[in-house]
Amino acid sequence: MAAGQTARVPRHVAIVMDGNGRWAKKRLRPRSFGHRAGQKAVREAVEFSLRRGIESLTLFAFSSENWNRPATEVGALMELFLKALDKEVDELHGNGVRIRFVGDLDAFAPELRDRMLGAMEQTAGNSALNMNVAVNYGGRWDIAQAARQAALAIGRGEFRADELDETRLATYACLADQPPLDLFIRTGGEHRVSNFLLWQLAYAELYFTDTLWPDVDQACLAEALDDYARRERRYGRTGEQVANAS
Ligand code: IPE
Ligand code: IPE
Ligand code: MG
Repeated sequence: MAAGQTARVPRHVAIVMDGNGRWAKKRLRPRSFGHRAGQKAVREAVEFSLRRGIESLTLFAFSSENWNRPATEVGALMELFLKALDKEVDELHGNGVRIRFVGDLDAFAPELRDRMLGAMEQTAGNSALNMNVAVNYGGRWDIAQAARQAALAIGRGEFRADELDETRLATYACLADQPPLDLFIRTGGEHRVSNFLLWQLAYAELYFTDTLWPDVDQACLAEALDDYARRERRYGRTGEQVANAS
């Protein structure tokens, strides 16, 4: 395919799964009720990605800033992650999904971290879909950890400091081994990135929907993909150049 031409189906989709709290509030239920309901939407997103042949699905499940929520909510989320790992991993594995957790996993309780590492190990040989779950993830953290890794490589004499450029730094950022991010979706009506994939977002297409995450179904995701398919990705060039290249 010519550079700049938009593939009909994005290879890599990232989703900020927002709106669980408001979904619960509308029902006069605690916020944790909304987080639990959001699990169904995760299943829908995985099924949808498998059906459409999306290669990578990256889900923002817990940001580095979400530790600042009330302790009861953070605790409920950690419990939910544990339960979800126990409940969902075998089925995901059966469907050929490769699970990866991206973020600073050191902050989690050993029990939870071990489950995450176990799920990654169990599914490491799968290739139907890369499912990346961003937990204790921050885009600035990602850039900083990439810079730290590059600095350590320089220290080991692998390359010189004046050889560190965008291409080289990118290899240390999370998800570097996966297709470039094509489509960023945020549910829940807010129009912000909230410290998600800052580096990887450089040329992603952005899509926002007011639908609250627990209400997201495959039809809602299909709308996002239809919208994406109508976009012209110019990467700095003119529309004429893009048209002539295709
Ligand atoms: C997103 O939903 C889930 C997490 C951040 C873990 P929210 O909990 O942010 O829901 P709202 O935005 O308050 O409705
Ligand atoms: C972003 O949502 C994080 C996740 C969806 C996991 P938030 O609800 O935490 O973001 P803000 O606070 O509205 O920016
Ligand atoms: Mg929110």
